[in-house]
Amino acid sequence: MKKNYLFSPGPTPVPPEVSLAMAQPILHHRTNQFTEVFEEAREGLKYVFQTERDVLILASSGTGAMEAAVANLFSPGEKAVCVRGGKFGERWAEICESYGVVPVNIDVEWGEAVKVEDVAKALDENPDVKAVLWQASETSTGVKHPTEELAALCRERGVLSVVDGITAVGVFDVKTDDWGLDVVVSGSQKAFMLPPGLAFITLSERAWEAAEGSKCPRYYFDLKKELKNQQKGQTAYTPAVSLIIGLRESLKLIKDEGLENVFKRHALLARATREAMKAIGLELFSKSPSEAVTAVKVPPGIDGAKIPKLLRDKYGVVIAGGQAKLKGKIFRLSHMGYVTRFDMVLAISAVEGILKELGYSFELGAGVKRAQEILWEE
Ligand SMILES: Cc1ncc(COP(=O)(O)O)c(C=O)c1O
Repeated sequence: MKKNYLFSPGPTPVPPEVSLAMAQPILHHRTNQFTEVFEEAREGLKYVFQTERDVLILASSGTGAMEAAVANLFSPGEKAVCVRGGKFGERWAEICESYGVVPVNIDVEWGEAVKVEDVAKALDENPDVKAVLWQASETSTGVKHPTEELAALCRERGVLSVVDGITAVGVFDVKTDDWGLDVVVSGSQKAFMLPPGLAFITLSERAWEAAEGSKCPRYYFDLKKELKNQQKGQTAYTPAVSLIIGLRESLKLIKDEGLENVFKRHALLARATREAMKAIGLELFSKSPSEAVTAVKVPPGIDGAKIPKLLRDKYGVVIAGGQAKLKGKIFRLSHMGYVTRFDMVLAISAVEGILKELGYSFELGAGVKRAQEILWEE
């Protein structure tokens, strides 16, 4: 018999309460019944995004919200600093190029966080830059960039801060309002404990002003139009009704646990996972690890592609390998969303089992033991 366990950094597991909520008969979206659900979800999102302003709900994956940010803020020919420290940082630059926005790329060594002084230097050299775009958590490398410090720099320089919080919002502290973040985006299949299909975006006053003057083409992702509708409890087009019903439920779960506790849980699971990997002699890939996902270097002499494949095929444990140039070089264990201490012990145990099978030499159980020491400390 084989059970399936999901430890990929998206999609993440969905709680049964959320699945059951989504299984209810479909509602028509132009009804008071839908508006009631939608309003509750909108309120819950403000709590998780730590903002007083509207958080728009879009029917797309997270990339849709990234694209919406670029399409609504800029005019062709304008410049944006893009922090490229992984696959998703590259995506910011690619989206900019698609809209004729000129990316000023900061190429960060994969595995490292961007240095605030490098962003400051790029802004010195390009005084006409309109915004800085980065990932709060770069999922492809398991890196956390210094969002609070970058936000302060952006404010000081009068440029917009545009943050991909897809694996950060609801994982660790991202204070949208207090840090003065202009745009924050996220997606449903991460800390929101939902299936893929919803994206979220919030804009500051300054960002809405930029949107007024922006000349990039857009239709489906016209945020001003969405704002007008969503403030009335509606969406411009047919919403992903069942996902929004699920969202209301998952937001209730987050509220019940309390955001602070959610952050603490992620931090604890991340620390236990990192220490467990070190205890079996493995090296972490990220020098500034994100609490969403732990990226681990494949030890020499082991075929890295086999780790996720065997885990999936033999144990039903789904983790992620490396993406792009990290293929076969790292594996990534997620501890984001609906994940408990017991789940992490299971994941670490499964990794140990596969490494043993692949001939890696270590003391079996040392990772699980180390994780347990940390997980049961609190
Ligand atoms: C940091 C980050 N940005 C962007 C994306 C893209 O999101 P999606 O695949 O939902 O379009 C992901 C997905 O893993 C991500 O982790």
